[in-house]
Amino acid sequence: MSSLSPSAPPVRYSNYQFRCIACEHTTESAGEDFRCRDCGDLLEITYPYWKEANLDGAQVKFIWQDRLISSHPVDLSGVWRFRDVLPVIQKEDQAITLREGNTPIYDLPRCARITGVARLFAKHQGMNPTGSFKDTGMTVAATFAKMAGFRWVACASTGNTSASMAAYAARGGMRSLVLVPEGKISWSKLSQALDYGAVTCQLRTDFDGCLKLLQDLVKKAPVYQLNSINPFRLEGQKTLAIELMEQLEWQPPDHIIVPGGNLGNSSAIGKALIEMKQLGLISRLPKLSVIQAEGANALVRTLRETGGKQLVIVPAETRATAIRIGNPASWKKAARVLEATGGACEQVSEVEIAQAKAEIGAEGIGCEPASAVTLAGLKKLVQQGFVTPEETVVLVLTGNLLKDPDYTIEFHRGDLFADQRSRELNALRRPPIVLDASLDAVMRTLEDAERS
Ligand code: F0G
Repeated sequence: MSSLSPSAPPVRYSNYQFRCIACEHTTESAGEDFRCRDCGDLLEITYPYWKEANLDGAQVKFIWQDRLISSHPVDLSGVWRFRDVLPVIQKEDQAITLREGNTPIYDLPRCARITGVARLFAKHQGMNPTGSFKDTGMTVAATFAKMAGFRWVACASTGNTSASMAAYAARGGMRSLVLVPEGKISWSKLSQALDYGAVTCQLRTDFDGCLKLLQDLVKKAPVYQLNSINPFRLEGQKTLAIELMEQLEWQPPDHIIVPGGNLGNSSAIGKALIEMKQLGLISRLPKLSVIQAEGANALVRTLRETGGKQLVIVPAETRATAIRIGNPASWKKAARVLEATGGACEQVSEVEIAQAKAEIGAEGIGCEPASAVTLAGLKKLVQQGFVTPEETVVLVLTGNLLKDPDYTIEFHRGDLFADQRSRELNALRRPPIVLDASLDAVMRTLEDAERS
């Protein structure tokens, strides 16, 4: 059966609406800032048409499976393969795709032993084309930017969004403008934006300052903003959860754990879980938990200090630079999905992040520091009894190990947290060994390593 199979549910242009998350006002079109015209809060995409079309869970599962044998570009994308639950595009060849999604799920037997849970998996979004989960949202939002006729797209970023946006803009024949905090993103991510041809501005501020400036810019210049305030991004990022459930044969795990920065990804995953339950694709909701770095813990403090009613903005500082964010835009959406799924919100220290990252690395998988908060957070949730040993847990690894090589090298050389006398930490360090090019020297090193 081809991607244009007669049994695919009928779609119409358009199949979605924007709805304000606060006053619930609905509209067919959104302004440049993707905020409600009445109350100024964020918009989300909804699909009133699903009810009308009687979208049937069993039928879409079959269609998605069937598309796996198609060679049509939208079917080769691990995002657009699930297009029946995404905003519809008029012509399928309009999709700007790099074959994103299609990411593996790995079991983590050693990390499972360390944490004491029986079944632990990693859904590795770092295996996307530009090395982070951002690609799944970017393919959708960049496609809509292009369809709306924009020549320029722009974002504020801690690095991964800019790398992804620059790649998709280039593929779609659009120009891109990147605003990043000077000196606070990894060279690896910066180099991607440069190579994909973005106009890259390193601003003397933090991420929150970059995002604020972008909000002003889109009101003045015809640029389309591709931060996760843009609800099309979150629709694409939903597919992480859909693909995960398909990989688990639609048997939901007990817990999904995700890092929290600007809080778009947790919101997207939560939205996907709720929608999948509504459509009958899954029979129960996993608990979705968000983990933040102690130094960038706006959501943790918001929930603890105001019961989720008012955002507590924090001055952000962490070596996990991807989540160095103190004023997260999607905090309300994230707070809601945590409540809806019964998930927790925790914070972890810099040392806990470094240890967890090395433990994930030692599984032969690896990830960037921000992703490792998930394992560090899981340890805490197990200690608290929130996660119990017989439960199944999935960690969402958001970025590839190669995204921040400086951090990894500093850690293994012993320069990162050199003052920490932690036995666990030091046991994980694998410093490079400089030797004369002699067989004896290498043999001795091998024997020492065997004994240790
Ligand atoms: N993990 C990685 C690797 C990230 O790059 C980000 C966010 C997050 C987790 C947090 O996701 O913001 O949706 O809560 N990076 C953004 C960027 C902010 O600009 O690349 P979130």
